[in-house]
Amino acid sequence: MRNIRAKTFLLAGALGLLVLHLCKDFIDHKTIRPHEDVREGDHQIRQPSTKESYVYSWPRCQQNTSAASITGFSSLPAAIKDFLYHRHCRHFPMILDLPDKCGGAENSAKVFLLLVIKSSPVNYDRREVLRKTWAKERVHNNALIRRIFISGTMDAGFEKKRLNKLLELEQREYNDILQWDFRDTFFNLTLKQVLFLEWMQRNCPNARFLLNGDDDVFANTDNMVEYLQSLKDNDGAKHLFTGYLIENVGPIRSPQSKYFIPVQVQESNSYPPYCGGGGFLLSGYTALVIHQMSQSITILPIDDVYMGMCLAKAGLRPSSHMAVKTSGLHIPSSKLDSHDPCYYKDVLLVHRFLSAHLYLMWHRIHDRNLKCGSSKKRL
Ligand SMILES: *[C@@H]1O[C@H](CO)[C@@H](O)[C@H](O)[C@H]1NC(C)=O
Ligand SMILES: *[C@@H]1O[C@H](CO)[C@@H](O)[C@H](O)[C@H]1NC(C)=O
Repeated sequence: MRNIRAKTFLLAGALGLLVLHLCKDFIDHKTIRPHEDVREGDHQIRQPSTKESYVYSWPRCQQNTSAASITGFSSLPAAIKDFLYHRHCRHFPMILDLPDKCGGAENSAKVFLLLVIKSSPVNYDRREVLRKTWAKERVHNNALIRRIFISGTMDAGFEKKRLNKLLELEQREYNDILQWDFRDTFFNLTLKQVLFLEWMQRNCPNARFLLNGDDDVFANTDNMVEYLQSLKDNDGAKHLFTGYLIENVGPIRSPQSKYFIPVQVQESNSYPPYCGGGGFLLSGYTALVIHQMSQSITILPIDDVYMGMCLAKAGLRPSSHMAVKTSGLHIPSSKLDSHDPCYYKDVLLVHRFLSAHLYLMWHRIHDRNLKCGSSKKRL
């Protein structure tokens, strides 16, 4: 009797192993791995079932042809039409992933400041300079700083392949790129943000704070760490969203503007308060709240406004930080050198910097011999 039971047990175990093995094979074969060319039409039409295939195998999103029946559709600019056709698309196959960037989801509280930098594939020179300057992965004041560039794809055919190859090479050397297979355009920036937040929820949910910004800004990340450490009642588990605050504005209705939003995209004439997208700081807590809210808010192509909408829905407010100068620095007189490092020593972030200036400035503000007078309130 006992013998039969043992045999049955063994047989069941062997069967189980066989099934597991077959499943593993199935997943291995059907999963598109990073470092492999992802070709259009390669993605199977099925719902992802495991963590891994979840990331790589989303089916290509179909265009919503009924968008063309919206009143006045035919007279809209091509980019807006394109946006309306794809507005519902929220999942794209991943080409480059960083599952261990934060040491795994469970250990991610060790990351004090996660730098999340929007970068198009062509901006190789900017990424190179950031890696050597303010976005260097390091420990500052006992705080661990990690870096991620977020990217889509550009162009088509050979050109697209070439740029993907470039990012793949960079990934091999630096391990700092998240790339999804969607067109990296101005009107897809919100999509990029949403995809990042989804990645964060999965792979780095407990990072304390994030800097979310562009690849052409000067960010004084040393100062950021010190500022965030000075927040006595916030270890990343409470609300924080701060930067260059913009309030009481609404959609620009003139078709010539880069920011043109017609009524067909948003009917309301006002935007909620938001922080300029060049760069803002937020807590890990707030990032996860925004991710949650985004599930039920239709995508608006202006990414920083969209963040404001998610905050508003959660009943949270963005705040203003005086040292975030997304609209540029105010230099008191034209006789003064606008590249005097003393102006940049005390800021958190300044928008629009050429790579060469950025490289030089980072070194100049760290020069031990730099003398800047006593006033910290020069700006
Ligand atoms: C497609 O577009 C129409 C018109 O705007 C809209 O009513 C519908 O909800 C959209 N479908 C999807 C799947 O988003
Ligand atoms: C966003 O990316 C998708 C996927 O590549 C593309 O089909 C769509 O045209 C893009 N939207 C805009 C507005 O560029």
